[in-house]
Amino acid sequence: MRTLKIGLLIRIVSLSAALFCVTGCEQDSSTIIETSSDNRSVREILDLPDHMPTPAIPDFNPLTNAKIQLGRFLFYDPRLSANQAQSCASCHNQSLAFADGIAQPLGSTGHQLVRNSQGLANVIYHSTLTWSNDGFLELEDQLNVPIRADNPIELGVTDAKLDEVLLRFEQDPQYVEMFAMAFPDSDSNITMNKIIFSLASFVRTMISASSPYDQYLAGDKSALTQQQIKGFQLFNGEKFECFHCHSGINFSSSYRDANTASDAIQFPFFNNGLYNVGGDGSYPSDDQGLYDLSLNPADKGFFRPQSLRNIELTAPYMHDGSIATLREVIEHYARGGSLTESGINAGDGRLSPLKSGLIQGFDATDEEIDAVIAFLESLTDEEFITSPKFSNPFEE
Ligand code: HEC
Ligand code: HEC
Repeated sequence: MRTLKIGLLIRIVSLSAALFCVTGCEQDSSTIIETSSDNRSVREILDLPDHMPTPAIPDFNPLTNAKIQLGRFLFYDPRLSANQAQSCASCHNQSLAFADGIAQPLGSTGHQLVRNSQGLANVIYHSTLTWSNDGFLELEDQLNVPIRADNPIELGVTDAKLDEVLLRFEQDPQYVEMFAMAFPDSDSNITMNKIIFSLASFVRTMISASSPYDQYLAGDKSALTQQQIKGFQLFNGEKFECFHCHSGINFSSSYRDANTASDAIQFPFFNNGLYNVGGDGSYPSDDQGLYDLSLNPADKGFFRPQSLRNIELTAPYMHDGSIATLREVIEHYARGGSLTESGINAGDGRLSPLKSGLIQGFDATDEEIDAVIAFLESLTDEEFITSPKFSNPFEE
């Protein structure tokens, strides 16, 4: 039973995490690198190719290999859920670019979530985190939700379960050693903050930059087919209009990197006409996007334009997983919004008063749609989904 809207819950968790961090976050003074001043080290640790910008790493949690390694173990460890039934990888599967292939996953206790699991490629470049939250600017805040939240439950490490979960790691000598290496200047206690800082470091390393599109950018003009190049041009043209919201190296206008000044961070959220319940632009009542946080009716159905990297692998699509295929996604945009013919969510998204002006609909031939799909498939990165850097360390 959902007694609290997910958005409200996220705001509460986020706020308490933020307050907590001001006073309680571990400062790792033994930093291998000075992230704010030393972009070269960041690039080396992340093994970034030249065409990828240097990402922003928060000063309070510099990247170190020891934290990244620890984070990789934690990501795959079901001991991080209260009932030991799930790990992060249960909903974020490497072979699916860290999505899970289902519309809306169940949490560790069988609780139905209302949102689609996001792929985790290049999360580091998004200016805000999750489908629709303008308050999550850092992973260290956002990761409290899957681990700690009690409504809905994902990993279910609530206050009542916290000590029990931490004890599991304290009693494992391998973890004791990994925590000591990751936080050498701290006391030997294993804390939720150390867990979150390590997981955040690991997630920051999940960079996808080896797709055929990347090879093309890096100078190999044969990496894309003629059809894919045509699709890329259509994607960036004024008929399809995709590029306005899915822009730049990560195909999302929700973007920042090391050169983005903190007062220049953008908060792009849009209603793309997926629903129009009751004709006033509303979305299904269990998830209205940014509105659930802001309570401003003009924010109904406002979501973050998702990065399109590895999009071929992360079906089904949209925040609620309601569109099954890329062809249907393009048909949604070509129609200028989706039609829900019957049921409590009936309405025509094309007529939504809150829909972005960029979603006007267009006539596209099958050949053009095929080309755009072929281009989107060029963002599939085989190296990313098979790299041992991101694989399950317990299966080595
Ligand atoms: C039960 C399934 C589930 C589990 C377990 C889970 N996640 Fe997620 N994850 C989701 C869903 C659903 C979203 C989208 C949440 C939203 O929009 O509110 C998400 C979003 C995220 C995001 C935001 C990505 C972005 O582009 O903004 C990150 C990062 C993330 N998860 C990491 C993790 C980590 C690390 C763990 C383990 C501590 C974890 N998740 C456990 C389902 C899950
Ligand atoms: C006005 C901004 C805007 C424009 C223009 C736009 N999109 Fe989107 N796109 C979004 C938003 C916002 C979402 C997330 C909506 C949601 O989850 O309800 C999204 C979601 C998607 C998704 C699903 C992502 C996922 O991980 O589930 C795909 C695929 C996509 N868009 C492709 C396109 C293509 C192709 C075009 C051009 C035909 C396009 N978009 C035009 C804003 C836009």
